[in-house]
Amino acid sequence: MGEQMRFEGKVALVTGGASGIGAETAAKLASEGARVVIADLDGEGAERIAAELRSGGAEAVGVACDQTDEAQVAALFSETVGRFDRLDVCHANAGWCRVGPVLDVSARTWRRHFDVNVTGTFLVCQAAARRMAQCGNGGSIVMTSSSGAVQPAAFFSAYCSAKAALNMLTAVMAYELGVHRVRVNAVMPGVTETAMTADLLATGARELFEREVPLARLGRPADIADAVAFLASDDSAYMTGQSLLVDGGGGIGASWFVTDFRARGSADWRLRHEALAAAAEAA
Ligand SMILES: NC(=O)c1ccc[n+]([C@@H]2O[C@H](COP(=O)([O-])OP(=O)(O)OC[C@H]3O[C@@H](n4cnc5c(N)ncnc54)[C@H](O)[C@@H]3O)[C@@H](O)[C@H]2O)c1
Repeated sequence: MGEQMRFEGKVALVTGGASGIGAETAAKLASEGARVVIADLDGEGAERIAAELRSGGAEAVGVACDQTDEAQVAALFSETVGRFDRLDVCHANAGWCRVGPVLDVSARTWRRHFDVNVTGTFLVCQAAARRMAQCGNGGSIVMTSSSGAVQPAAFFSAYCSAKAALNMLTAVMAYELGVHRVRVNAVMPGVTETAMTADLLATGARELFEREVPLARLGRPADIADAVAFLASDDSAYMTGQSLLVDGGGGIGASWFVTDFRARGSADWRLRHEALAAAAEAA
């Protein structure tokens, strides 16, 4: 049990909750009393995390949902979220990322970034907002954006563009949903140690990040989960429409991400790391 119980009696949905930041946030919310629905493309992983939370005494359910599919998102709400008496928190966190030079990004890879990160997040947040408005208790939606939404990072053209769209969606939804006492905010993590960044960090980028980030370490899922819990709770009761950087100060110096790849003054923007290039190809 957490020291505080900010989510006692409340119901939370976490997408992308089978892994990394989402799994950590689900655990954090459950530790403070929330009943948690964990949704993920990886349904077995979602149920595995839910089972771990149940073994710790929480009420949790894991369910498979591809958030790019409108029918699956509708089913998530009608068959699982809708079984609960209320919905107070939605952490719209599932995301997808591949790297590659802008000269080479395929339309397929570009579309996948927008399908998962923008359309999928929109579908989840829209359904959550409808449910919150219907229940009449207000609520808090927190999207997982990225520091890349406000900080251009070489080789991340599709990802940065998609996450920038989420910051605007956050602001516009907040504008419209205030009348329902539904707050909408986003967290923008810097580079955080999860499955998503494993290949990137294995290239030697870890040392670069640790050297350049003012707090001299990578983000941990718990750093992001703490910020999400703050935005999800009444501790942030008068905040809405905001995108909050949680990046160890990485955003203060804007060039650090680029320097890993660029041969200054030349047109050499090739993706040097084989693992990353292979992942981009497999997208
Ligand atoms: N790790 C980082 O450095 C970092 C930095 C900034 C933002 N983010 C964002 O944080 C969020 C969580 O990522 P993470 O780092 O924990 O990575 P992760 O790979 O551990 O988790 C991402 C989860 O999203 C799920 N997912 C992917 N596509 C989906 C879909 N179509 N429908 C439903 N679920 C889907 C995956 O199955 C996975 O469980 C993402 O939105 C990511 O873009 C991560």
